[in-house]
Amino acid sequence: MSSVSSLPVESLNVSLGERSYPIHVGAGLLTSREHLLPYLAGRQVMIVTNEVIAPHYLHALKETLAGALDAPKEETLTGAELEIREVILPDGEATKTLSSVERIWDALLAAGFNRRCTLIALGGGVIGDMTGYAAASYQRGVAFIQIPTTLLAQVDSSVGGKTGVNHPRGKNMIGAFWQPRAVLVDTDTLTTLPPRELSAGLAEVIKYGLIWDLEFLAWLEANLGALRGIEEGAIRYAIRRSCEIKAEVVAEDETEQGVRALLNLGHTFGHAIEAHQGYGNWLHGEAVSAGMMMAARLSAQRGWLNEADVERVAAILCAADLPVTAPASMQAEDFLSRMRLDKKNVDSRLRLILLETLGRACIRDDTDPEQLERLLTDFPRT
Ligand code: NAD
Ligand code: GLY
Repeated sequence: MSSVSSLPVESLNVSLGERSYPIHVGAGLLTSREHLLPYLAGRQVMIVTNEVIAPHYLHALKETLAGALDAPKEETLTGAELEIREVILPDGEATKTLSSVERIWDALLAAGFNRRCTLIALGGGVIGDMTGYAAASYQRGVAFIQIPTTLLAQVDSSVGGKTGVNHPRGKNMIGAFWQPRAVLVDTDTLTTLPPRELSAGLAEVIKYGLIWDLEFLAWLEANLGALRGIEEGAIRYAIRRSCEIKAEVVAEDETEQGVRALLNLGHTFGHAIEAHQGYGNWLHGEAVSAGMMMAARLSAQRGWLNEADVERVAAILCAADLPVTAPASMQAEDFLSRMRLDKKNVDSRLRLILLETLGRACIRDDTDPEQLERLLTDFPRT
């Protein structure tokens, strides 16, 4: 794997005191020892990936770790000193379960890995969330590094330390906050990503514009073609700006006591769609897209957005080839029964992320149940 980009690596910081960590963004980072080795806790390294990603990137990562590439003299660890193991899981959202995490625990124990081991998540959000949870729980917590390979993971799931698995009754219901030691975003990995997955990632990028930064939303509207074509400059800017926003929010509210909930625009509706349709049938980003459309429509019903704003949300999601309607098979009660389990709810009050204007979100627990039911009944289906 070689990179043709001449853009330098860019680095941001997630400021969390002594648990602060960098996000490095650049083409070809998978082969950069200087961006990887400093974050290993010790000699034992477990790479966790899946059957789709491994053939593309596992070899390059192992070669980087093992020092097949030239190693700078000042490095303290040489490849020969590292004990590198791997776990290759099956692919897909349906595998984001406790039994997959158990396979990671088993591999760590079989290898005799101790508390100074490091887990490396090489993959999308599913691998990242499960590896993070395995790291959070193995021997009460060990180091992990995120190497996200989907756009969604590069702009969202690899940053911020939310880790965990799904439960048949609800998305991401079992988990822990556990921050990585570093996030390495190699933009070259996007070249093998299927277009549908790229679009799913764009849903989360658009989310940042909608909740936080109207100027970024306008930039996205103007640059969607370049983003869908994975043009390096455009994709790099979108990743960097998304990570900047996420880092700012996480630094302010690591465990989602307040402002971090805004990052869940569309997710309450979206998680209901994912769970109801069967994990993996609607991609996470697709479900979030339909959910953001529902949140925009509800915000308009409350008098905050106007029709032109709602049309603008629909237009950018459609331009990213994302769904703006809900599944035909879901009735209002299918949404409501899942939404009542949402992690944001306090006592039995439903809390929703809505839009006060485009570029500014709010958390509300005062949605009129009749208005919500009307939205869920009338919202277009396909
Ligand atoms: P995913 O991990 O399932 O990856 C999508 C698909 O792309 C998979 O088939 C995967 O094998 C494949 N793939 C990954 N990288 C590839 C590459 N470079 N080339 C070719 N194929 C590649 O899905 P995702 O969209 O990355 O992540 C969705 C998950 O992330 C959901 O479970 C969601 O709940 C979670 N999530 C977590 C957070 C968080 O803060 N922790 C935030 C958002 C989403
Ligand atoms: N994806 C939402 C969050 O990390 O809080």
